[in-house]
Amino acid sequence: MRVLVLKASPRRDGNSALLADAAAAGAREAGHEVTVRHLDDAVEGMLRDCRTCRRADGSCGIDDGYERLLLDDLVPADALVLATPLYWYGMSARLKSAVDRLFCFMSEGYPGSGTVLAGLPGKRVGVLIACEESYRGATLGLQAQFQELTRYLRQDLVGVVVGIGNSRGDVRLDPGNPLGAAADLGRRLFDARVTDYRFDTPRDNAVWSSAD
Ligand SMILES: Cc1cc2nc3c(=O)[nH]c(=O)nc-3n(C[C@H](O)[C@H](O)[C@H](O)COP(=O)(O)O)c2cc1C
Repeated sequence: MRVLVLKASPRRDGNSALLADAAAAGAREAGHEVTVRHLDDAVEGMLRDCRTCRRADGSCGIDDGYERLLLDDLVPADALVLATPLYWYGMSARLKSAVDRLFCFMSEGYPGSGTVLAGLPGKRVGVLIACEESYRGATLGLQAQFQELTRYLRQDLVGVVVGIGNSRGDVRLDPGNPLGAAADLGRRLFDARVTDYRFDTPRDNAVWSSAD
């Protein structure tokens, strides 16, 4: 399966990048084809008013690498791993811009919107967050945002790993072993059980069998 790992911190050798590398290694170990991209290389502009910004042929008027990233790497991927630092209790602005700008490419005005709309659903998504504060509430809002984003896009949020660290590489010393957890998330991207029951969903009483 194809896995796209997106690094969303401006610090290329920072904590979320370490988590991303660990998840990528885990996914490779499980036999998947992994592509790692740094959002700084692709996303320069923020979303503008599409009506006035769009070119005459309907394509996005922001001249950076986002469209190539979207069409060549993101749409074809079977799973996404999003690695972000926690900034003001949210995702990095670069990642938020990447999410916002999906709007332009999903709208009817964009000539390739059919490909984008068909390619977004069904992906497995893993989230990696590096942050200074270990207080659980610090990442709650962001985790909820990813849950809603993936629900809206009909994707499966497979797991979230939070690594505590501040200075470069700090996350390696987190006794909770987030690098191990990120590797495990990468390894199990397509095997991890994701359920979302309603009261009448047919199911067995036992969740696991000995085969699991
Ligand atoms: C602009 C900015 C905002 C931040 N906001 C928070 C925050 O709200 N909560 C927190 O725990 N850490 C916060 N931090 C600390 C980073 O999340 C932390 O240093 C993280 O390890 C950085 O990841 P990186 O090395 O991948 O960039 C912030 C850092 C910056 C630069």
